[in-house]
Amino acid sequence: MYKLKEIATNVFYVGVNDRQKALFENLWPLPYGVSYNSYLIIDEKTVLVDTVDVCYSDIFLKKIADALNGRTLDYLVVNHMEPDHSGSIRLLRQQYPDVKIVGNSKTHGMLGGFHGITDGLLEVKEGESLPIGSRNLTFYMAPMVHWPEVMFTYDAKDKILFSADAFGTFGTLDGGIIDTEMNVEPFREEMIRYYSNIVGKYGSPVQKAIQKLSGLGIGTICSTHGPVWREHIKEAVSVYDRLSRYEGQDGVVVLYGSMYGNTEQMAEAIAYSLAENGIKHIVLHNASRSHASYILKDVFKYKGLIVGCPTYSGQLFPEIESALSKIEVREVKNRLFGYFGSFTWAGVAVKRLAEFAERMKWETVGIPVEQKQSLNAANYAGCLALGQAMAEKIKEQSIN
Ligand code: FEO
Repeated sequence: MYKLKEIATNVFYVGVNDRQKALFENLWPLPYGVSYNSYLIIDEKTVLVDTVDVCYSDIFLKKIADALNGRTLDYLVVNHMEPDHSGSIRLLRQQYPDVKIVGNSKTHGMLGGFHGITDGLLEVKEGESLPIGSRNLTFYMAPMVHWPEVMFTYDAKDKILFSADAFGTFGTLDGGIIDTEMNVEPFREEMIRYYSNIVGKYGSPVQKAIQKLSGLGIGTICSTHGPVWREHIKEAVSVYDRLSRYEGQDGVVVLYGSMYGNTEQMAEAIAYSLAENGIKHIVLHNASRSHASYILKDVFKYKGLIVGCPTYSGQLFPEIESALSKIEVREVKNRLFGYFGSFTWAGVAVKRLAEFAERMKWETVGIPVEQKQSLNAANYAGCLALGQAMAEKIKEQSIN
């Protein structure tokens, strides 16, 4: 019944779209949904690459049965065990009891832990190949992109790389599956958000994986989320490359917390000064309104970050504390950092922000501004000077 997109001759897309879940990992908003991609190769042997979230297993199994057209499933290759991809494995095994599950030793440990599956496994190591007829599938380990068991599968005949989460993005596939048949514009920001939220901490493993792939002739990238990349491979790889090197574009995020608007006035003055001094990309995030998902996206995207907030219960304003901890966990590198803060009777926020900068080993730009109660002329001038110092530093270091 199902018409299934053929990525290459006898390589079918059997993934699904999720437009129901509000939060990916129960953390990150999905305003445009997300796809769970899975691929079926029909050769002398039949091979499924990854599965989908268990919530979509019913339609997923129907698609597979249609594509198999009466044949059985010989192999399931598990590139990644996170449950958005491994969730349907137990049901798949019930449907195809003889299917051999292909993975590395870490994959197989997780199969036992998540699904109680310990038999019918085929363990593969770095660079090993599995002949399936006219094709050989070759496996490359990509540990910590972003789980330890992650691996890539390469089909040299079709020049397809099955890349697990790498080069993935939030956003459903609304009709088109391959990038050549869709407008990819909406995926550009969503890819940065996906990377920063999900993969962000693991820049160095991503760099290693990209280097490992550099010798392969890749004509198509089949990730587990978002479009199949063909026309935009270079762009997708270069986004992951840039983000995993923590290379920010010319631009500044002004992240602030404010209870009654006094600290917000400082943020406004800084932003005004950034613009006056030639910075075109300025994003103001009110930490009480912006979800951390979007703050992280912009912190990964831009080179400059200026943070300010009031002192609250003798500490940082809680929403700023929360956002900074998410940035710190991701070990974001090489940002130009400015800071400011306010207090009513005892100033602590600015001290805490200085400590944060030190822990991150970031270059501090400009002179921090600390405001008691509401904004006065001297502090206003200080905010303008802070914006100007950041703008000059960004321009001085510009490679864009
Ligand atoms: Fe899409 Fe790491 O799972």
